[in-house]
Amino acid sequence: MSYDLSIIGLGRVGLPLALCFADRGLRVLGVDSDPDVLEAIRAQRMPFSEAGTQALLERVAASGRLELAARAADAARAANIVITLGTPSFSHIETDLRQVRAAVDDLLPLLRPGHSLILRSTIAPGTTEFVAGYLAKQRGFRVGEDVFVAHAPERIAAGRFLEEISTLPCIVGGVGDASTERAADLFAELGAPIVRTSAVQAELAKIWTNILRYATFALPNLLMMDCERYGANVFEVIDLINRDYPRGGMAKPGMTAGSCLRKDFAFSEERSNAPGMLLAVSRVNEAVPLFLVEGVKRRIGELSSRKVAVLGLTFKRDTDDERDSLSPKLIRMLERELADVAVCDPHAATPTQPLDEAVRDADVVIVATNHSEFERPDALREIIARASSDCLLVDPWNAFGTAQVFLYASEAAALLGTGAPADQARGVARG
Ligand SMILES: NC(=O)c1ccc[n+]([C@@H]2O[C@H](COP(=O)([O-])OP(=O)(O)OC[C@H]3O[C@@H](n4cnc5c(N)ncnc54)[C@H](O)[C@@H]3O)[C@@H](O)[C@H]2O)c1
Repeated sequence: MSYDLSIIGLGRVGLPLALCFADRGLRVLGVDSDPDVLEAIRAQRMPFSEAGTQALLERVAASGRLELAARAADAARAANIVITLGTPSFSHIETDLRQVRAAVDDLLPLLRPGHSLILRSTIAPGTTEFVAGYLAKQRGFRVGEDVFVAHAPERIAAGRFLEEISTLPCIVGGVGDASTERAADLFAELGAPIVRTSAVQAELAKIWTNILRYATFALPNLLMMDCERYGANVFEVIDLINRDYPRGGMAKPGMTAGSCLRKDFAFSEERSNAPGMLLAVSRVNEAVPLFLVEGVKRRIGELSSRKVAVLGLTFKRDTDDERDSLSPKLIRMLERELADVAVCDPHAATPTQPLDEAVRDADVVIVATNHSEFERPDALREIIARASSDCLLVDPWNAFGTAQVFLYASEAAALLGTGAPADQARGVARG
């Protein structure tokens, strides 16, 4: 076979991975059914932003070690086939395996002894065994002897791919030891420590990595809502919890979402031993936009025809990834209150306004995403200067360093004069 590996799905996981393998000298066939994705890569233009990958794409293109194809079936031209397709969840809490099944069905007639199928996508427990069983049932393969199936989950955070691909322990769990070894040999090329386990343990480890984060951020969000009820300051309470306390710590509140956290919990919840528990975690995080809108209305009354500036459209800080962000939900809720919404996001591909325009004469300014641009002291100064004189600032992230979720711009201006109480905002940082 002319390629060392193929990768099906050149999205935010698959494309950086393909580039890294090619950069380490392997011959890679990248497969994606979206012509726009293939066109961008051929033009040596990253379809999304991920630190350091534009230069890497140009280097790899010059090496000629990454070729492209449009059909999943083409991936059978390599012995190692890595699947990095999307694995969403149906809205009624069930894993949606349609992309993976379609690719496996396309590959089915072309698989031969020696092929190794490695699922890099996030999958519900039991999915690797299901794929192995499907190959055995449809083609009569003995998985682990003549073809190999393994799970090697992706756990890298957006924006940190090139930093973590060679350092973050790479979990590999195969159907049979030989499947594990084939996948481990391939991923060892990237230089990170390989941790061998069973397929189902690899699946559980990945989804519970994300469930832990999702729940970790739901707690300060619920605390923020409790504090509002009792007239308390969430940042002061978090500081009381964390200050010199040696056993763990409370994270900071914020708009917690994104295409992984918002759906991966469903891969446990669909067969949960405690049905509803993780759904409740999700509901807390999902309730933050409504909490903020209601908090604004409690303070300034009806929002009809009031100007609200929403800062941040992407799902987290300093990324251009807008998928499954809570910001559009916040904007929709504000629009349903008949507010005039202006948006500023210096990272999003969706066109938005510059900061000075978005906040001009605003009655409310909400930090929806804590981009580093909004944390600069001059951003708060600009807002105070341009927004209406009685503007309400809403900052669940404490991006402005004022340690108040709701604060009038005049109060923020007074704090700026005296030095903001930033030490009251200590929380466990989000990666
Ligand atoms: N984005 C992240 O930061 C991240 C992190 C960890 C794990 N994951 C998991 O990795 C997987 C991929 O995530 P992603 O964000 O890269 O997804 P994505 O949607 O960005 O990429 C999937 C790609 O697959 C392509 N595709 C769809 N069907 C195809 C087919 N039949 N043949 C060929 N190509 C096809 C799409 O065009 C798209 O480019 C998911 O399981 C996700 O949960 C994502």
